[in-house]
Amino acid sequence: MSITYNQENHIFTLNTKHSTYQMKVDNFGILLHLYYGVKISGSADYLLTCYDRGFSGNLYDMGNTRIYSMDVQPQEYPVLGVGDYRNSALVIRNADGSECCDLRYVNHEIKKGKYSLSGLPAVYAKEEEAETLRIVLEDSISSVQVQLFFGVLESEDIITRSAKILNLGADTITVEKAASACLDYISGDYDLITFYGRHAMERNFQRAEILHGSTVIGSRRGTSSHQYNPAVIITDKNTTEDFGNCYGMLFVYSGSFMCEAEKDQFGQTRVLMGLQSDLFHYPLSENEALTVPETVLSFSSSGFGELSRQYHHCIREHICRGNYAHKFRPVLVNSWETAYFDFDGDAICGLAEDAVELGIDMVVMDDGWFGKRNDDNSGLGDWQVNEQKLGCTLGELIQRVNKNGVKFGIWIEPEMVSEDSDLYRKHPDWAMHILGRKPIRGRNQLVLDFSRQEVRDAVFESICNVLNQGNIEYVKWDMNRSLSDIYSMEYAQGRVTYEYMLGVYDFLEKLTQKYPNILIEGCSGGGGRFDAGMLYYTPQIWCSDNTDALDRLQIQYGTSFFYPACTMASHVSAVPNHQTGRTISLQTRGVVAMAGMFGYELDTRKLNEEEKEEVKEQIRQYKKHQELIQNGNYYRLSNPFCDTYAAWSFVSKNREQVLLNAVILENHGNMPVSYVKLKGLIEDAVYEDIQTGKCYYGSALMHAGIPLPIELVEYPAYQIELRKK
Ligand code: GLA
Repeated sequence: MSITYNQENHIFTLNTKHSTYQMKVDNFGILLHLYYGVKISGSADYLLTCYDRGFSGNLYDMGNTRIYSMDVQPQEYPVLGVGDYRNSALVIRNADGSECCDLRYVNHEIKKGKYSLSGLPAVYAKEEEAETLRIVLEDSISSVQVQLFFGVLESEDIITRSAKILNLGADTITVEKAASACLDYISGDYDLITFYGRHAMERNFQRAEILHGSTVIGSRRGTSSHQYNPAVIITDKNTTEDFGNCYGMLFVYSGSFMCEAEKDQFGQTRVLMGLQSDLFHYPLSENEALTVPETVLSFSSSGFGELSRQYHHCIREHICRGNYAHKFRPVLVNSWETAYFDFDGDAICGLAEDAVELGIDMVVMDDGWFGKRNDDNSGLGDWQVNEQKLGCTLGELIQRVNKNGVKFGIWIEPEMVSEDSDLYRKHPDWAMHILGRKPIRGRNQLVLDFSRQEVRDAVFESICNVLNQGNIEYVKWDMNRSLSDIYSMEYAQGRVTYEYMLGVYDFLEKLTQKYPNILIEGCSGGGGRFDAGMLYYTPQIWCSDNTDALDRLQIQYGTSFFYPACTMASHVSAVPNHQTGRTISLQTRGVVAMAGMFGYELDTRKLNEEEKEEVKEQIRQYKKHQELIQNGNYYRLSNPFCDTYAAWSFVSKNREQVLLNAVILENHGNMPVSYVKLKGLIEDAVYEDIQTGKCYYGSALMHAGIPLPIELVEYPAYQIELRKK
């Protein structure tokens, strides 16, 4: 039993392999948080202290007792308006305009298996792999009920949390703010690690102290965003990659989110993860409910590396779904950086012919194949094949590609519409806009109101018409702007961003069910919607529109803290690089792209013979190591933001096979030697370097390291394959 309830002291204990999470229903029915961290025994309620604290008020039912205040006690689901002045997980506006909700324990149930969330992505598990705890809390005056869900995947060190808010009263209330997880730390000093960024430079690592006052990150864009990823780490001050305590919070949602971290007046730390409260006012009439998307918690006492591997495993085995979740992904060549909008059917077939020669499995026809779309100002929404441009039907094109033994993939952007499109001319009201105002344009396109069923149905039909035209085996689902003009004909305004996201998930669910053999890759101007919510439907996501190998080292480093290599699409592109103008060798571009789901994004017709041979060799190498890269354990061996080299490795589960990757980042006269220390090997096993035949003990490789060569070139890259003798 990973979940237990002690009836005498009303304590819930959630145990995973290496962690304990404890909470208690107090004498007043309030659900207090006791502990989360290294596995412990016994009851942790002795940690609770009671003092009379000035200006921290007391609940009326405590009589004259002044030593107990919601403002001080650690809680599972703190609510605004009942004496806790810190950041809250829930804000309810009642029918009379008051903002308060006094939640008290009603009952609970413990079940085998993991709960699921209707219409929302969530961690899934087999019946025997997980347990669920549901705790019901209620405000007796307003009859607002909150059901807290806890899912425990014991052997994975994963605890999930979600909340369902139900209005059982007759009057309509409004949810003004809702989080799915709150972590209250009674003591200790912590740092917060966040992943900030921008288009074409996503998920930079930032570590900062949690101080008095709030640190808030999030998105108001209707997508999880390039700017902040919905995933944070709370860590002890001395925690490093390999040592120390750290906690992850991963939001399984692709829309606007908010994470708040705050140290309070008594040095206690609270971190909340949930829905963004701006542009959100969710009315609930009698018997209506709102489900707050899930937050996945994990704890490691051995540093960030272990925490990352816990999340990698959880995402690979319990979030990614479908036929491709575990299947090898095809090596593909994509037409975007190859030709942008300037291609025809022959050019696509040319890529397919080269693909056969080079060993590439699939050709992807990116943006520009439909409607009137020779640049990014028109055509979105008109999902009719531009046969004139292609010089043939889509079916014929696919057959020509397939005839070479090459698979075919296609790009779509279903959520969008161009004003210059037949769809917009016919249904201008389908685009999000505020009545009487001109909308904000983004990339000269508008957002279709996917919260509306009729809009989704029409787009779904037109996309299916395309997918039915031939043997399409991959779809790249793009989304190239942020939401604005939040207003809907159908819903109360404060519901729109949430309902929009539910609409996208509904569309994706139908698509994956109808086409289970199609691999869908998520994308939003690269990594603008790189989150666990999308990964539930699309097992890989285009990591960034930035394909520069040097920048990608940093982007992929940040991404790797939560997301495994099998989720990161990564391609070799042409030089000088289209985003940075930098020229980096084909060898280095190959090694960097092999840290993810591999492919090319360049005109193979422009490769010379020598380059073609190198590409062939890269693909051979990738395919040789595909199992290790897709399913192996991932180790960060340096920090490319501050070290002179970037290094990472993939290690097989039995620790017998290793692929070490390294790129030297700095080049100076009379260069010092870089030594890379490996991780995750068997100490007393002997490993052979397959290329040189040299043998090393695992202990030596881990504690003394291996020297990287000095070469008179910029950014040289190395791939060293080690195998246990
Ligand atoms: C986005 C994607 C690119 C490409 C273009 C096409 O920017 O991230 O990879 O598909 O759209 O317009």
